[in-house]
Amino acid sequence: MDTKLLMEWSDRHLMAFAKRYPVALVRGEGVRVWDSDGKEYLDFTGGIAVTALGHSHPKVVGTMREQAATLLHVSNYFHIPQQIHLAKLLCEHSFADRVFFSNSGAEANETAIKLARKWAKEHGASDRGDIISMRGGFHGRTLATVTATAQEKYHHGFEPLPAGFKYVPFNNLRAVERAIDSRTAAVLVEPIQGEGGVNVPDDGYLPGLRKLCDETGVLLILDEIQTGMGRTGKLWCYEHAGVAPDIMTLAKALANGVPIGATLATDDVASAFTPGTHGTTFGGNPLATGVGLTVFSTLVEERLAERAARMGRRLSDGLRALQTQSAGAVKEVRGKGLLVGIDLVAPVAAVVSACRERGLLVLTAGDNTLRLAPPLIVDEPSIDRAVEIIARAVQDCRP
Ligand SMILES: Cc1ncc(COP(=O)(O)O)c(C=O)c1O
Repeated sequence: MDTKLLMEWSDRHLMAFAKRYPVALVRGEGVRVWDSDGKEYLDFTGGIAVTALGHSHPKVVGTMREQAATLLHVSNYFHIPQQIHLAKLLCEHSFADRVFFSNSGAEANETAIKLARKWAKEHGASDRGDIISMRGGFHGRTLATVTATAQEKYHHGFEPLPAGFKYVPFNNLRAVERAIDSRTAAVLVEPIQGEGGVNVPDDGYLPGLRKLCDETGVLLILDEIQTGMGRTGKLWCYEHAGVAPDIMTLAKALANGVPIGATLATDDVASAFTPGTHGTTFGGNPLATGVGLTVFSTLVEERLAERAARMGRRLSDGLRALQTQSAGAVKEVRGKGLLVGIDLVAPVAAVVSACRERGLLVLTAGDNTLRLAPPLIVDEPSIDRAVEIIARAVQDCRP
């Protein structure tokens, strides 16, 4: 169908919640996608850190076909084998003992907040329910998670916001120490802020948070929705810091694009949920968890976290070389593994457009950061090509 007409209908019939690029993507394979005019792109957005195994991965396609033809959905009143196997596998490969499945990142965080509050009330005073989160963080768009998202631009017009949220600057342990009081239930943090600008904290930050939480009996919730599933070069980003959370949330890459969310917790914390305290219709259904099982098994068997570390080094090295040659046009390259942010002098929107014109799709983050989150199966030639295109795009956008 004609792209111009599609865009006209989009303007007329969709709620205008996103600024969209003038492109309709219709097909994908591995690291590449094609638009409705047949133009090919390298996809370094990964559907915002979702398609870890790339597009149309044969194992994912196979599981989807088989599961859809066998049993797509049943309710959580029944045992669901795929859900049980995926939960077992996630627990075997993480700090966690138990999992609750939902449909998105926001829902996974919503669940984490509810679980932490319920646990805190059972292990303290009845008014213990405050969540401390970090400025510049991002946790979702539901009312509770958008409130946990300590960026006022996402709050405007949605007041009154739910009570019980406190904000402190990111990467500042003293501020957390001062903010914790007898009403605090949990500290909620991304190990690396993704949407906020690929902000990497100091090495001592997560261990410091863990220590503060242990000393005060407060829960540590890590939002690994963007950083988890191998993206940063370890299966979970918390492994870089050598400490584990009490609750971790996942979504995005867990089923490579089939909507899913997961809230993982220790036995002790998970015990706050009993039958009837929380629920979901779709969460953990055979299709989503069946695909999740295939994705997670593939990730582990093919050691894709290690690959992400290797490919991430190549990407960051290439971009740092570009920074050196850029005469100040590239201000900083940061990140871990295949989650990389590049601070630019030129307006990031112009560089994104220039990349797209040249056949590379990239993301933005924070105020003026170009963000890259390619599939973990990305190969060396694609990385080198992406760096080359970014170099040209930065050149195109010189004032
Ligand atoms: C760290 C983090 N948490 C939560 C979310 C919300 O996830 P979803 O859009 O699936 O609700 C996102 C989405 O970008 C995210 O990056």
